[in-house]
This record gives sequence, structure tokens and C-alpha cells, in this order.
Amino acid sequence: MKRILVIGGSRYFGKSLVTRLRDAGDEVTVLNRGSSAPPPSGVGRILADRDDEAGLREALGRRDFDVVVDQVCYTPLQAAVARRVFAARTGRYVMTSTMEVYDPATLPAGAAPHTVPVTEAALDPTRPPLTPPLPDRPGPGPAHTGAHAYAEGKRRAEAVFLSEPPFPYVCVRTAHVLGGGAAEFTGRLAHYVERIGAGRPVDVHEAPYGTSFIHHLEMADFLDWTARQTFTGAVNAASHGAPDVLALGATVAQRLGRRPRYRVVEAGADASPFSFDRAYAMDNGRAETLGFTFGRVTDWLPGAVAETVRATA
Ligand SMILES: NC(=O)c1ccc[n+]([C@@H]2O[C@H](COP(=O)([O-])OP(=O)(O)OC[C@H]3O[C@@H](n4cnc5c(N)ncnc54)[C@H](OP(=O)(O)O)[C@@H]3O)[C@@H](O)[C@H]2O)c1
Repeated sequence: MKRILVIGGSRYFGKSLVTRLRDAGDEVTVLNRGSSAPPPSGVGRILADRDDEAGLREALGRRDFDVVVDQVCYTPLQAAVARRVFAARTGRYVMTSTMEVYDPATLPAGAAPHTVPVTEAALDPTRPPLTPPLPDRPGPGPAHTGAHAYAEGKRRAEAVFLSEPPFPYVCVRTAHVLGGGAAEFTGRLAHYVERIGAGRPVDVHEAPYGTSFIHHLEMADFLDWTARQTFTGAVNAASHGAPDVLALGATVAQRLGRRPRYRVVEAGADASPFSFDRAYAMDNGRAETLGFTFGRVTDWLPGAVAETVRATA
């Protein structure tokens, strides 16, 4: 049995992770500020704001953990606080990061282009150059912050954990997470269902690139598995396959019995979520070599679309 702390753990795949850890017999505690329902039975709870270092220390008391899974680390400031507070009380620290750390559109000018699919070795966040400005305030998440600040905040947070002295740390570079109907709170799949269902065009780039996805329950499985391993460093988490926005639209249209309409946006302009004019789909080989087996996007995407159709009806 492991003593595991999940920072966040109150929505979407964070909730599923907590349940999986508990059901495996681990001693699980969630830490958040308490704005949503208490965790399920059998799971402990600590109320604290991770941005308040003194309050966080006080709330943790003398507790220590085999593993901390940090679901809500968005900035180097948050990472620095976490390092200081958890270093002496944690066996291994797992931060949920994002594939956006590879996004060429948010990398500094002159950064070398990635080879696609992107392996973890393509990005060492501890090595300059990094792009200004430093985001020093926590952001609410990918749906609500600028893509640039989000990606750079995650890169810099990773860099803090990876810096000297060594800290037993894993950053899980997570693909776009889908599935779960209304639980998928960013509404990105609902965007397609609503537009295609209403016969409105989906905005796309002229030659969109494929991108990486993972099912929300597969993501919870992956974090659960990661918590039980001993590896450190960056690891990509993505189902097999990298559909582009047109394949995604076709899956939605098939479910709705509609013909999708597309409107091509100018180069560099905003388009629908998951339309990309740049390539950074991820290679999931490191995780599979370590022992995790991913599913295929094409196996679960139709079901995820069906859940969203039901949730938006
Ligand atoms: N969804 C995707 O497609 C996707 C893709 C790639 C990566 N990711 C990453 O996945 C992670 C999942 O995020 P999530 O929000 O869904 O996770 P989560 O485990 O459900 O945690 C969310 C909860 O964290 C708590 N929290 C936020 N700020 C806090 C603070 N300062 N102190 C203490 N608790 C705080 C909030 O509850 P309280 O208000 O009660 O504090 C919030 O409801 C993120 O790191 C995101 O970058 C997501």
C-alpha cells in the first residue's frame, strides 16, 4: 500500500484517478481548496491553497507520501513552492504536464523544429532559450489562458522540478484529453457537435496536421500506473493514432448523420480547437517501453463523440 497525495483531484480524469488509487488499496488523500464536493468515501482530504506556502505546510503537518500526483501545476512559482514543501516528505513527484510544451508556435524564435512524432528528448526545459515573460501567477487551465502562457508556464514548471539538486520527478506530457460527455469541461468536442449539428462551418487551417489525443479514463489509468513505477523524467501520454481536424469532424458528422462543412481560415489565424497549422503529435514509445499499453484513438473516439452528443442534446 502506498501513501499517495493528489493535488487537485476534484474533476474529470483527476477524479477517476483518485478512485482508481483508492480501489487499488492505496491510502489516498486529495488536496484542494474545497470549492467542490468532498472526495469519495475512503479518500482523505486536505484543504489548502498550494499557492500559499505557509498555509500549505501547516495543512500538511508532518504527513509524508510515497507519491504526489500534482494535477494543477501551471507555473514555475507553483513548482518552486511544491519543491520546497514536498522535497523532504515525498518519494516520487508526478506532475501532469501537457503536449503543449512541444508546440512550435509557443517555442522561442530559433528553437530547432521537432521531428514528428515528437519524443520526450525533443524538449529539455532546463536548457535555454526560454521565452519571456515569466508567468508568475497560477492560471485556471488550458481553456482559460493564452496558449503561449500555458505552454511556457508548464515548460518552466518542468524546469524547476528538473533542476539541481535532483528530485525524483516525472512530468507526464499529456495529449488532448477527450471523452466523458459533460465531464469534459473544456467543451472542445462539444464545439464540433454543436457546429456540425447546426450545419455551421468548422473553422480549419488549409492543410491541418494530425494531433495526439487520449481518452479520459485511459489518462486516469496512465497516471495510476505511473504512480506505481520507479522511472523519472518526461513521458508522453497519448493513444495511438493522430487524427487531424477533418478526421475528427468526419467522426462527429457520421454520428450526427450530417455532412460536415468547413471554412478555411488564413494562415496564423485562430481556428477550431484541434485544427493545427503545425505538427507536434507525440511519440508514446517511452511509456510503452516502460510497460504501459495505449489504446487507439479510432477505437474510443466514436464513443466519446456519442457521449458528447447525448450531453449536448
Ligand atoms: N484536459 C486536457 O485536455 C489536458 C491536456 C493536457 C494536460 N492537461 C493537464 O491536466 C491537468 C488536469 O487539470 P484538472 O483541473 O482537470 O485537474 P483536477 O485533478 O481535477 O484538479 C482540479 C482542481 O484543483 C484544485 N485547485 C486548483 N488550484 C488550486 C490551488 N491553488 N490549490 C489547491 N487546489 C487547487 C481545484 O479545486 P478547488 O477549487 O477546490 O481548489 C480544481 O477543481 C492540468 O494540469 C492540465 O494542464 C489537461
